[in-house]
Amino acid sequence: MRGAHFRAVDAAPAPHALVATLDAVAAREGVHRLKRHGLDMLAVTAGQRLLDVGCGTGDDVRALAGLLGPSGLVVGVEPSEVLLAEARRRAADSPLPLRFAAGDASDLPFPAWSFHACRAERVFQHLADPLRALTEMIRVTRPGGRVLVLDTDWGTTAVSGADRSLTRRVLDGFGDHITQSWIGRQLPGLFHRAA
Ligand SMILES: C[S@@+](CC[C@H](N)C(=O)[O-])C[C@H]1O[C@@H](n2cnc3c(N)ncnc32)[C@H](O)[C@@H]1O
Repeated sequence: MRGAHFRAVDAAPAPHALVATLDAVAAREGVHRLKRHGLDMLAVTAGQRLLDVGCGTGDDVRALAGLLGPSGLVVGVEPSEVLLAEARRRAADSPLPLRFAAGDASDLPFPAWSFHACRAERVFQHLADPLRALTEMIRVTRPGGRVLVLDTDWGTTAVSGADRSLTRRVLDGFGDHITQSWIGRQLPGLFHRAA
């Protein structure tokens, strides 16, 4: 199950192959819609400082930086050296206001109130302690700023198979490989607890 490797990309059997996986997922229309919806919810304005937690190849960091103007800054934080190197390679010739940093969602390497807004997309499903990560995102965001977490609930996957018990086992087995396979339904409760 390739998705499960995103909890520790550099320890995966073929970490560079996960770059291609991310690109394939990002090309899906449903993911485009998710990202557009996320941008609307962040309500970015010129000059802001933004953080993308678990930024992967940094495509969202570059997209956000394009909206900010020269006085803004987008920072992408990412624990995988492989993905961080790819994010830096993709942004190498970019004049946009962005930078990348190594770091983990559970211990963000920034002082309190560093950002106007903060986002994490398809990251929380891989975390051992999502509440701690959300608390960290809130800590580094200024009062009144927006904290956006977009994620998947693998328990809502629907598959139609002729053999009901086999289909059930396939669905259960799939979700079981993801650290927080029900994170989608848990996010509202996490926000209540972290607030
Ligand atoms: C499915 S990818 C999504 C990447 C990117 N956000 C996107 O939308 O394309 C999951 C990302 O979460 C990162 N990740 C996993 N564990 C993490 C942690 N403890 N802290 C921060 N990021 C983490 C992975 O390295 C990977 O970049």
